[in-house]
Amino acid sequence: MLEVNIKPVSMIAGTGSYLPSRVLSNFDLEKMVNTSDEWIKVRTGIEYRAIVEDGVITSDLCKEASLEALDEAKVLPEELDIIVVGTITGDVKFPSTACYVQKKIGAKNAVAFDLGAACCGFLYGISIADHMMKSTRYKNILVLGGEILSSITNWKDRNTCVLFGDGAGACVIKRSDGKKGILGTYIKSDGTLSELLTMPGGGTKYPDPSSVPDEKMNFINMEGREVFKHAVINMTEAGKLILKEVGLKSSDVDILIPHQANMRIIEAVAKKIDIPKERVFINLNKYGNTSAASIPIALNEARKEGRIKEGDICLMVVFGGGFTWGSAVVRF
Ligand code: UT7
Repeated sequence: MLEVNIKPVSMIAGTGSYLPSRVLSNFDLEKMVNTSDEWIKVRTGIEYRAIVEDGVITSDLCKEASLEALDEAKVLPEELDIIVVGTITGDVKFPSTACYVQKKIGAKNAVAFDLGAACCGFLYGISIADHMMKSTRYKNILVLGGEILSSITNWKDRNTCVLFGDGAGACVIKRSDGKKGILGTYIKSDGTLSELLTMPGGGTKYPDPSSVPDEKMNFINMEGREVFKHAVINMTEAGKLILKEVGLKSSDVDILIPHQANMRIIEAVAKKIDIPKERVFINLNKYGNTSAASIPIALNEARKEGRIKEGDICLMVVFGGGFTWGSAVVRF
């Protein structure tokens, strides 16, 4: 096993994910907006996305993902110290979706809170969980990314509606045995670029909803090309930086789990970090971009498909609205 000079304090002991069973294909979208299966596949790599049935809410998806992760980690809900949910599509404005998850799984001893970092919500959560483990006596932390992006997607806008999907992913963080675990995390943001990816409605900036057209107000607004450019630069920087910080090279990475937003972004980032495509995990084709849920869903699938073995080094890189970005290196 590769020698690493860092003794991890926390480790990922269980993962879970949940995707709604209703599937929306590129061909379905052809009937809704002026687009084509070919354009979507070539420009993004997406073929399908999972969309919730009416009445299903974010904490429902998170509950299912949590139960799978808890079961694998052999942790009971009442043994959880913290629940963190990364989401931009919470159940209600307040209280936090994490509090609803706490209620639904019966985690009566936990402190629960949401984390608003758009697509980076889960990875920010992992970083915070690791630091909480280092500075407290907590033993078990549940970190989630859960989104119902279909609820804030403008289904008349071909620039955005082909990109997003719904889902949730979870992981249970426990104290490390000193070998396996989180070797390092890096998180960063740049608020000067916040207007390039935003949903303006629902906050205090526009208390009068009629002051802004509905298609701008209540849906995801994105300057795609700009976001693309910054995603490649910052995910690459985050990946290289954390590898350097933990003393590893790109050739030490057994698997790269990138944020699943666009195949061309993933390919460019992997190439720049110098990780061959056989070592890159992709499920973007099946689910599209699920924001904060993207990395934990991919991580769970990669593990359950046997793509991550004991001792493997996993690099995660992410980018999202804010702008926010980050990375983590984990030994499994
Ligand atoms: O999770 C947060 C991070 N988010 C991302 O990373 C998303 C980053 N951005 C992207 O993935 C890409 O910019 C998009 C997939 C959103 C767009 O791809 P692009 O190659 O940057 O296309 P574009 O915006 O430059 O548009 C090219 C053309 C335009 O037509 P004209 O002006 O050249 O005539 C668009 O109107 O493609 C057109 N177009 C479409 N055509 C068919 C845009 N969307 C569609 C569509 N179907 N769905």
